Amino acid sequence: MPEQADDLMARAVEIMTENDRGSYTVPTKGLYPYQWNWDSCLTALGQAHFDEARAWTEIETLMAHQWPCGMVPHIIFHEKSDSYFPGPDTWQTGRPVPTTGITQPAVAGFAMARLLSRAKDRSAALRRARALLFKVSAWHDWFYRTRDPQGTGLVAIIHPWESGRDNSIDWDAALARVPTEGLEPFTRQDILHANPDHRPTQAQYDRYIWLVQHFRGLGWDTSRLHDASPFRVVDPGFNAILIRACDELADLAMELGETELAARNRAYAERGRAALESLWDDKLEQYLCFDRAIGAAVDSPSIGGILAVFAGLPDHRVDALARRVGLLARRCGFLVPSHDPAAKGFESLRYWRGPVWLVVNYMIADGFAKAGHRQVAKHIDDDSLRLIAESGFAEYYDPITAEPCGGGRFTWTAAMVLEILNGQKAAA
Ligand code: GLC
Repeated sequence: MPEQADDLMARAVEIMTENDRGSYTVPTKGLYPYQWNWDSCLTALGQAHFDEARAWTEIETLMAHQWPCGMVPHIIFHEKSDSYFPGPDTWQTGRPVPTTGITQPAVAGFAMARLLSRAKDRSAALRRARALLFKVSAWHDWFYRTRDPQGTGLVAIIHPWESGRDNSIDWDAALARVPTEGLEPFTRQDILHANPDHRPTQAQYDRYIWLVQHFRGLGWDTSRLHDASPFRVVDPGFNAILIRACDELADLAMELGETELAARNRAYAERGRAALESLWDDKLEQYLCFDRAIGAAVDSPSIGGILAVFAGLPDHRVDALARRVGLLARRCGFLVPSHDPAAKGFESLRYWRGPVWLVVNYMIADGFAKAGHRQVAKHIDDDSLRLIAESGFAEYYDPITAEPCGGGRFTWTAAMVLEILNGQKAAA
């Protein structure tokens, strides 16, 4: 087994190096030729195992493109490329280096805390953490200011792409309410790089682009977009990541003597954690999304409601989620499917409507391990590694057959393999 682990780690480093563009890493060649927000933060965790300094650079490059309002965009278009739609000409956000105008899960605070806690060069890490601290905190402030204007403790996403789970069944009903009148004609590129049967449908794409056009029409004034968006959904997984990042940032700020910033982030986390309770569903024994535009829960058993464990939850909720994961394990070959295989709408090969994604597995396993559920965490990690052994470093996998899907030689998948294997090594 150790030789196999060494071989997997060597292959992971090779993929990450191949996708490294110097100061940022592309998710994979062709399909995703730019820098993606949460990809980069999770990528940095993997990079730290073989090049600590480079890992900090990955997050610094991302944060260098933060907007003055505090938002950190979901894609930075560092270089021109014809292989991706919608590119800078569609977004038209007017930034010096073009970016999109929406955000993605706020992994940065968690990632930098983890880099610091493991740093071999601690003084360099402290210096770099201090410089990032204020930027990441400004992003958290932005979230609670603009995406939770009523002060509920939970933030909403205003575009499915913000969730990172682009075409989840969670968004179907809310997205169906988004109009398509006035949509400018466009040509998709994703279906030239990946199997169209695995990608979002055209009806979904039309609405994704309509929302972009709508926000563009409002001049990308992020203080107006939440209320002006017909799509406003509260995702427990997205909030859990933000809550965890606020907590980690609060610890880090205390360490650096920034007590005010620490107190603010701690308050966000505590309020958010308390508010998550409103998303619990007794029938399904997991959290559910909430459609803020119509004020109703979204009856859809997706992985977003399990990822909530990453926030740090009361014991009885973690126990219930562990039972839920046990049930899912009996319904598929590989944990954790992005949608319950027994539920309506599940598709084993279509992107976020069923397949397994290693990054989400990683955060769920981390949440369970932190809460003392080591067996569940190990089950998930083992399944992640079995997927790699059977099917290589793909973008995502069929949870029943392990078929590799989407882009190949995928950066964040490789990063997660380095995280899991090095974690196991350290624990042995
Ligand atoms: C897809 C995923 C998203 C990811 C991006 C780049 O859009 O849904 O989560 O950030 O690809 O890998």
